[in-house]
Amino acid sequence: MTMVTFLSGGSLKIVCAILVITPLVQYLRPALGFISGVGVGDANNIRCLEGERQALLEFRKGLIDDYGRLSLWQSEDENKNCCNWEGVLCSNQTGHVLELHLSGSQDDGMKPFRGMISPSLFELPYLTFLDLSSNDFNQSHIPKFIGSLNNLKHQDLSWANLSGPIPHELENLSRLQYLNLGRSDLKIIENLKWLSHMSTIEYLDLSSTYLSVVANDWLEVVSYLPNLKTLSLWLCDLPPLSLSSLSHFNYSKSFAPLETLDLHHNQFVHIPKSFGYICTLRELYLSSNNFNGQLVELMDNLSGCAKDSLEVLDLSKNHITRLLPNFSIFPSLKNLNLSENELNGTLPKSIGNLSNLELLNLSSTSLSLKFSLDWVPPFQLDRIYLTSCNLGPTFPNWIQTQRKVSFLEISDANISDTIPAEWLEDLPSTLMDLNISSNQIHGQLPNRVLLPLFPTNLTFLNLSKNRYLGSISSLCKINAQLLAFLDLSDNMLSGRLPNCFMHWRKLIVLNLSGNNFFREVPTSLGSLSGLKTLNLNNNNFSGELPSSLGNCSSLIVMDLGKNRFSGKIPAWIGESLPRLFSLSLHSNKFAGSIPLHLCWSKDLQILDLSLNDISGTIPQCLNNFTGMTRRELFYREFKLPGRILGILKIIDLSRNKLTGKLPSESLSLLGEIPSSISNLTFLSVLNLSYNYLFGKIPSSTQLQSLDAFAFAGNLGLCGPPLTQLCPGEETPNQSEPTDDVIKDKEEDEDEFRTWFYIGIGFGSPIGFWGVCIALVFDWRHAYFLLLDRMIVNLARLRRKFQTRG
Ligand SMILES: *[C@@H]1O[C@H](CO)[C@@H](O)[C@H](O)[C@H]1NC(C)=O
Ligand SMILES: *[C@@H]1O[C@H](CO)[C@@H](O)[C@H](O)[C@H]1NC(C)=O
Ligand SMILES: *[C@@H]1O[C@H](CO)[C@@H](O)[C@H](O)[C@H]1NC(C)=O
Ligand SMILES: *[C@@H]1O[C@H](CO)[C@@H](O)[C@H](O)[C@H]1NC(C)=O
Ligand SMILES: *[C@@H]1O[C@H](CO)[C@@H](O)[C@H](O)[C@H]1NC(C)=O
Ligand SMILES: *[C@@H]1O[C@H](CO)[C@@H](O)[C@H](O)[C@H]1NC(C)=O
Ligand SMILES: *[C@@H]1O[C@H](CO)[C@@H](O)[C@H](O)[C@H]1NC(C)=O
Ligand SMILES: *[C@@H]1O[C@H](CO)[C@@H](O)[C@H](O)[C@H]1NC(C)=O
Repeated sequence: MTMVTFLSGGSLKIVCAILVITPLVQYLRPALGFISGVGVGDANNIRCLEGERQALLEFRKGLIDDYGRLSLWQSEDENKNCCNWEGVLCSNQTGHVLELHLSGSQDDGMKPFRGMISPSLFELPYLTFLDLSSNDFNQSHIPKFIGSLNNLKHQDLSWANLSGPIPHELENLSRLQYLNLGRSDLKIIENLKWLSHMSTIEYLDLSSTYLSVVANDWLEVVSYLPNLKTLSLWLCDLPPLSLSSLSHFNYSKSFAPLETLDLHHNQFVHIPKSFGYICTLRELYLSSNNFNGQLVELMDNLSGCAKDSLEVLDLSKNHITRLLPNFSIFPSLKNLNLSENELNGTLPKSIGNLSNLELLNLSSTSLSLKFSLDWVPPFQLDRIYLTSCNLGPTFPNWIQTQRKVSFLEISDANISDTIPAEWLEDLPSTLMDLNISSNQIHGQLPNRVLLPLFPTNLTFLNLSKNRYLGSISSLCKINAQLLAFLDLSDNMLSGRLPNCFMHWRKLIVLNLSGNNFFREVPTSLGSLSGLKTLNLNNNNFSGELPSSLGNCSSLIVMDLGKNRFSGKIPAWIGESLPRLFSLSLHSNKFAGSIPLHLCWSKDLQILDLSLNDISGTIPQCLNNFTGMTRRELFYREFKLPGRILGILKIIDLSRNKLTGKLPSESLSLLGEIPSSISNLTFLSVLNLSYNYLFGKIPSSTQLQSLDAFAFAGNLGLCGPPLTQLCPGEETPNQSEPTDDVIKDKEEDEDEFRTWFYIGIGFGSPIGFWGVCIALVFDWRHAYFLLLDRMIVNLARLRRKFQTRG
C-alpha cells in the first residue's frame, strides 16, 4: 500500500491519535470516596456568617462552573445558609467556614471548575482546609494572599493547571501539615527557604515543580522539617546529587520520621549511602532516573538501618544491570519493582526469603526465573508482573501455589505448554487480571467444566496470541460479571460465538480477531452498552449485522473487517453510535450505498469501507465527521498541549462500485496544506481508487497534494494529481509543497514525538490516555497497533489504579 500524506512522498513515521476511555475511571474506582455537600448546618442549626457568605459568593464568581456543581451557592432564602453548600464545612460551634472541599478530580467522580482563585478567600480567616485540586485555573499563578490564610492545615492545589513561581508568602502557613502543589507547572526561582518555616508539615508534594535551581539544597531544607513523613519530589528536574557536599549529613538524625520518599523521574545516578540510614524509611520510589550500575551496588547503599524498615522499593525504568543482590537482607520488603531495566541472568533464590512479599514486578527485564519444580514460596503474592521474563518452557508450578493473587501477568514469558486444567478450573478467587498472552500455550479452553469458569472478580482476561484451538462453548460458563476486558485474539479458536454476552454487561473491550469464528454474530452482543472496542477482524463471520449492535452506544472502535458480512451498511451505525472514532468494514460483502446516517458520527476519524460491493455516490456530507470543534473540546478536556492538534483521518473507499462525480465540498475534509504548525494534521489518508468515479478532481483543496494512487483505477477521473487531463484543460500545474512547508513539518514531527514520549514517560494523563501509532507504510497495520496500544493503555491504567488504591 502507498501511504498518502499531505506531502507527496512525505515521510511521516509516527502518528499518534488519542482515544479516550473516561468512564473506565469510574468503573475501576468504585471504592473511592466522594465528597459532596459536606456541609453540616441544619442538623445543628448552624448558620453561616454573612461576611463569609459574601466571600464565598465572590469566590464563586471567579469560577466557571461548567457542570453546575455550585448551583445551590445562592443568596436566595432557602439556600442562604452557606454551611449547607456543596463543599463547605462550617464549625458547628462558631459557624465560621473551616473547610472548602472543591476538588474537581474526575477520578473521584467529581467535575472540574475553570477560572481563577478569587482573593475573597482572604475573608475566610478560619479556613483550615482548602482543596482546589484537579481544576483548571488556566495557567494562573498561585495567589500570594494564600499566605494570609494562616490557620490552614491542609492545602491541596495539585493538578490545578497553575503556573509560575511558588510564592514565598507560603512561609506564613506555619500550621500546615499537608501541602500538595504537585502536577501543576510551577517552579522555584530562588530557594526553598519558605519551606523551612513549615515546622509542622507532614506531607509535602511538589512533584513536577521545576527545582533544578536548588540543586542539593532541597535535601538540606527538607531534612530539617522535623515532622515530615512523606516527601514527593518526582519529576522535578533534580540533578544528580553531589555526594561530597552531602557527606556531613547524618540522615538518621535529620530525617527523623520520614517514611515515604518519592524521587522518581529525576536525574539521579547514585543512591547516597546515607539514604540507607533513614531508619524509618518504608517506601522509596526511584524509577525513571539514570541509575546504570549493578543492582547489588545500589541496594548495598540501602543496607543501613533502612534495610529493616524498607517495604516498597521501586527502581523500575533505569539502566540497572546485574549483578543481583542477596534479597534476604531486606526482610520487610512487600513491593519490589525492578521492571524495565537491563537485568539478565537468573533471579537469585534469595527472593524466596522475602516472606512478606506481595508485589513482584520484573517485567521487561530478561531475567529467568528457574526454581525447582516443587518449590513452594513462603510468600503469597497479590500482584505478579513477569511479562517478558523467561518462565518457560513449562508452565511454572510455583505460580499455582499463589492462592491470593489478584494480578497475574505472565505474557511473552516463553511458556510453551498447556495450562494445567486443574489450575484453570480453580483459579484463586481473588484474581482480577489474568494476562498470559503471547506465549505458545496450546490445547483447548476447558469445555466440560461444571463449575463456573474463572473467578467472579475477574476484570481483565487476555489469552491472546497463543495457540488455543477449538470452540469457546464454555464461554458462557464465565461467571465474571465484572469482566471489562476480554481478548482472545490471534489463536486458532473456531465455531459459532455462543449467545451469552448478556452475562458481561461491564465489558469495555472485546477482541476476538484473528481466529476462525463463523456464522452470525450473536444478538446478545447488543447487551454490551458500555463496550468501547469491538474487534472481530479476520474471522469468518457472515450474515447481516444484528441491529441489536446499535445498543452498544458507547462504541469508539468497531472493526469488523476481513469477514463475510453482507447486506447494507446499517443506518444505525450513524444513528446509534455517536462516539464512534473508527469504523472498519473492509474486505466484506457489504452492498448498497453509503447511508447518509454515517455522517451523524461526528467523531469519526477512521472510515474504512474498502473491498466491498458498495455502490452509489460518495455522500456530500462526508466532511461532517472530521469536525474541528469537537476535536478542540477533546484536547481541552484532556489538557493536551494546544499545538498538538494533529489527529489522523483515514478514509478508504477503494475497491468498491462507487459512481458519480467527486463531491468537492465533502472532500475538503482533509483541510488545507498546513501553512503553520497550529493547524497541522499529522496524517491523512484518502483512498478512492478502483471505483467508477468520474469527472474532474476538485481543486482548491489538498487533494492535489495526494498521491495519484488515491484516485487510480477510476477510468473517468481527470485532473491533478492524475496525469490524465480533463477535456479542455492545460497541462496540470503540480503544486509541490514548498521547502518551508516541508521543514516546518519535520520540525513539528520532532516536537510531536518528543511531546509524545514525554507524555508517556511522565505518566501524565496523556501517557495513560494516549494511543500511539508507529506508521511506516501501511496504515492498516498501524491501525492494529492502535488497537494494541489501546489495550496496553488499559493495562497501564489498571495498574495505576491498583498501585494507588
Ligand atoms: C488504496 O486502495 C488500493 C486498493 O484497495 C490499495 O491497493 C492501495 O494500497 C490503497 N492505498 C492506501 C494508501 O491505502
Ligand atoms: C461538632 O461536630 C463534630 C464532628 O461532626 C462532633 O464530633 C461534635 O460533637 C460536634 N460538636 C457539637 C457541639 O455539636
Ligand atoms: C506574613 O506574616 C507576616 C508576619 O506575621 C505579615 O507581616 C505578612 O503580612 C504576612 N504575609 C501575608 C501574605 O499574609
Ligand atoms: C547519626 O546520629 C545517630 C543518632 O543521633 C547516631 O546514633 C549515629 O551514631 C550518628 N551517625 C554518625 C555517622 O554520626
Ligand atoms: C553508594 O554510596 C556511595 C557513598 O555515598 C557513593 O559514592 C556510591 O556512588 C554509591 N553507589 C551507588 C551505586 O549509588
Ligand atoms: C547480560 O547483560 C550483559 C550486559 O549488560 C551481557 O554482557 C551479558 O552477556 C548478558 N548475559 C546474558 C546471560 O544474557
Ligand atoms: C471481589 O471484589 C470485592 C470488591 O473489591 C472484594 O470485596 C471481594 O473480597 C472480592 N472477592 C474475592 C473473592 O476476592
Ligand atoms: C452535518 O453537520 C451539520 C452541522 O453540524 C448538520 O446541520 C447537518 O445536519 C449534518 N448533516 C448530516 C447529513 O448529518
